[in-house]
Amino acid sequence: SLVTRKTKTIGLILPDITNPFFPEVVRGAEDEAHKRGYNIILCNSDWDEEKEQVYLSVLQQQCVDGVILVGTKLSESYLASIAATFPPIVVIDRTIALDMHSISSNNIQGAYVATSHLLAQGCRIIGHIAGPEQSVSARQRMQGYRQALDEAGIPFLPELVVGGDYRMTTGKAAAAELLRRSPQVEGIFCANDLMAIGALEQLREASIRVPRDVAVVGYDGIAMSRYVYPPLTTVVQPTYRMGERAIQLLFDSIERNQPEFQHIELEPLLEIRKSSTRRA
Ligand code: RIB
Repeated sequence: SLVTRKTKTIGLILPDITNPFFPEVVRGAEDEAHKRGYNIILCNSDWDEEKEQVYLSVLQQQCVDGVILVGTKLSESYLASIAATFPPIVVIDRTIALDMHSISSNNIQGAYVATSHLLAQGCRIIGHIAGPEQSVSARQRMQGYRQALDEAGIPFLPELVVGGDYRMTTGKAAAAELLRRSPQVEGIFCANDLMAIGALEQLREASIRVPRDVAVVGYDGIAMSRYVYPPLTTVVQPTYRMGERAIQLLFDSIERNQPEFQHIELEPLLEIRKSSTRRA
């Protein structure tokens, strides 16, 4: 209204609307916003930073009361440069060293637990299908993978890491590449579920049995991970909660003008299913 100057709208930019991880985050945000009488304007950036910047200025022109950025790859210096003239921003799915609220789940820890699980299943040659290099979560998951190998005294081999872009098609291609480079691979830790599902398809086409020949672990815990064959072991992120908490943080800024910025890190949880269970 003109009196309060609030539009009661919040802009939310996510990188890939076809990846079920993101709508699950939005679900939590939308429910929480709705409870407080706010509406959400949803934008999809296709992992494209330019598109994200365009959406940011559109949202600013629309006078939204706050913005939620999910999985943004925008640099900290860029975000710092817009923060002063912008409505409050909350970043989801990314740790950030700025005066800005952030909420993520512990990616290093999640990847460490996933890789340790493969080690406990007797896998020694463990490949990693990584996320895009510019993505903070992808780099942190790689770090957790390396840390678990390190602690087990297994040398890190760069050829066992193949990059993907968090989409199913690249997961499939990366699995093919990994098998070409290392036919002996016994386990694959994938940086997200969609790439793991693509990898499962590649393994099936190559008549490689999962988990007997190769054990597979994904990341995210999207609903679909339970319905693929074999059901996918995955690191479950508290997606709904992340969205919900982001709105609560945003409201601290919008309505209470709370000056203290919070960096919240929630715990991910390994859900063990058939795709990785080689030992009863
Ligand atoms: O599946 C998409 C991935 O990108 C998720 O794991 C999320 O954490 C993001 O970084």
